Amino acid sequence: GTADIGVVGLAVMGANLARNLARNKYSVAVYNRSYGRTETLIAEHGHEGTFVPSADIADFVASLSRPRVAIILVQAGSATDAIIDQLAEHMDEGDIIVDCGNAYFKDTIRREQACQARGLHFVGAGISGGEEGALEGPSIMPGGTAESYARLGPMLEQISAHVDGEPCCAYISTDGAGHFVKMVHNGIEYADMQLIAEAYDLLRQGLGDSPAQIADIFESWMGTELNSYLIEITSEVLRQNDAETGKALVDVIVDAASQKGTGAWTVQTALELGVPVTGIGEATFARGLSSSPTQRSASGPLEGHATPIAVADREVFIEQVRQALYASKIVAYSQGFDLIQAGADEYGWEINKGDLAKIWRAGCIIRAVFLGDITEAYADNPDLPLLMADEKFAPKINECIPALRQIVAHGALAGIPLPAFSSSLSYFDGVRADRLPAALIQGQRDFFGAHTYLRVDREGVYHTEWSADRSESRWS
Ligand code: 6PG
Repeated sequence: GTADIGVVGLAVMGANLARNLARNKYSVAVYNRSYGRTETLIAEHGHEGTFVPSADIADFVASLSRPRVAIILVQAGSATDAIIDQLAEHMDEGDIIVDCGNAYFKDTIRREQACQARGLHFVGAGISGGEEGALEGPSIMPGGTAESYARLGPMLEQISAHVDGEPCCAYISTDGAGHFVKMVHNGIEYADMQLIAEAYDLLRQGLGDSPAQIADIFESWMGTELNSYLIEITSEVLRQNDAETGKALVDVIVDAASQKGTGAWTVQTALELGVPVTGIGEATFARGLSSSPTQRSASGPLEGHATPIAVADREVFIEQVRQALYASKIVAYSQGFDLIQAGADEYGWEINKGDLAKIWRAGCIIRAVFLGDITEAYADNPDLPLLMADEKFAPKINECIPALRQIVAHGALAGIPLPAFSSSLSYFDGVRADRLPAALIQGQRDFFGAHTYLRVDREGVYHTEWSADRSESRWS
């Protein structure tokens, strides 16, 4: 075969990725389970480059040049397993299967092992940027063997988004590492979105402004360190009017947020690894609460709002919300990078966190100017133990924390739910506390279950005889 690369699964993401490759002068073999999609792609976009369509998977594999590279973009789960099996049947040793779907990283680890046993390379590549990103340049996070990256990497780098000539694609690490970091990317995406939503709620209830006026406020924040894709689209959404009713669109959309699962995976993984990603957790649970019709409609007997927010100075209030958002965003990213490090430690991946921040600067949903600062922080110190305490971030977050305290207090008094803002503040206060009440929990655990405790003043593991004479003994 002669095609440089192949794409299996020609729904919007797959079709756009194939077009992006073709526009970048690669000849692209394409295959879809039902041939109609393939025909549509060729009819509508065949002129954009060189496509090699196949109606049959054996022909598709045969049309690829060796070592063959086939990207699959089908539904996560059993559909992905089925396609891997079909490809593997026709492929030869050294060929490369690339899963660009939103796969669960443990599935990717399993698939990589199975492919390796058959002499094939399996690459789990996280890809972000939605439909437009796939076509115009996404952010790509590939995990797999270094050998497969040597063949595949240059093509992915070429089609990815670029910042100052640098691609938003870099080798992450082995097997599930790419999908792991994509999962955390999505978790951070959830946190970012929830924080923005809380900021909107505060502005709306505090200022009594219309969505269009709040759109202007978000737009003005594009000129600050908050500059990001999600802030930008927030003002676009808020400015949109419903054609039918003439109301702001945001006021006619049902207030129940959906999720396809990557946020929940992030939280589950964080629980398994014991990493407090509280911002992501609260964001995921907030979507759950919004989509709990039973509980929400049963809440009538509960008393609602106490006092509305008394805004003394409009500009001061807006700036407080902005700073609260910035501080909480730093917390959410700091937690997300902690989870990435914990995953790397657990699964034996070497992940360069600075490089990762670099490839999130463009193409992906969480793209933001702010990621440049994270790249620099990790460039200065790759083993940075706490991102938010980095010498660049610490002064910035310290400066914004008083505003976050004000805002959380406003929300508490006015009865406005601020799960992400308040958990960010609690995390900040917790992580910097000289002493935590965890000592008391250790005492309680020792009381009811002889779970023992450590002492601040001596080595050793201790237990108090709570049900006898309450003397202390050293257990080891
Ligand atoms: C991306 C996005 C994408 C994800 C959507 C929807 O990086 O392009 O993360 O992969 O599917 O964000 O996710 P939810 O349906 O869970 O909100």
